[in-house]
Amino acid sequence: MQLFGPIFALTAFATHASAATWYYLDFTTPSGSYVTEFSGTMVAPTLQQAGTYYLWPGLQPSDNAGVLQQVLDGRSGEWWIGSGWCCSDPDLAWGSGFNVADGVSIDFSNTVDSIEDGTWSTSLSSGSDSATGSFALPTHPMDQAIMAIELYGVTWDFGKLTFENVVIVANTTSTSWCTGGGTNYDNAAVISMSTPTATTSGSATTCSIASIVFESPA
Ligand SMILES: *[C@@H]1O[C@H](CO)[C@@H](O)[C@H](O)[C@H]1NC(C)=O
Repeated sequence: MQLFGPIFALTAFATHASAATWYYLDFTTPSGSYVTEFSGTMVAPTLQQAGTYYLWPGLQPSDNAGVLQQVLDGRSGEWWIGSGWCCSDPDLAWGSGFNVADGVSIDFSNTVDSIEDGTWSTSLSSGSDSATGSFALPTHPMDQAIMAIELYGVTWDFGKLTFENVVIVANTTSTSWCTGGGTNYDNAAVISMSTPTATTSGSATTCSIASIVFESPA
């Protein structure tokens, strides 16, 4: 599976014929601080047809080398979700996953053992389905938590995409990266969000957002 993180895709744009259509919200931590956890719930929208719909939460490192993501994939005509590191440097096998029915909630989490060691544990669960993964990414500390709609040859025809109980933890005492509500790429999407709250304890800040709804193209 070849997916491209937002920045990666934009820099590669000129050389890739099959352009993606992007809608995404990006929370970037302050320079020199990194994400240690990113979790929440994603609600699968109604898939209208088989097509290259990639809907995902993901983490991108400061060098923009790739993206560690949980991708809800519409290519087969039924949603499937799995975790993976796209796409190279290092080359890592895509994780296992499971099919997801329309309207179903999927809990996701990404946690790192330490920022220096960079081994990420991922988990996905929905009802009786679950999948876990481990991704060794020691040279790629993550500073961007992203929620994205990435489309190839299809349009945003599936209605709202909802994320709930989103939690981003970073090693910073700064809170504005959270309370500012992130960056809506190119203002391409209409996004409704509950007020983000930031709680600092010691050197870590936890950003909590009860609801983020990608309503429609802007
Ligand atoms: C966050 O952790 C990294 C890795 O230990 C460290 O280099 C960096 O200085 C820390 N940043 C802050 C703001 O504490």
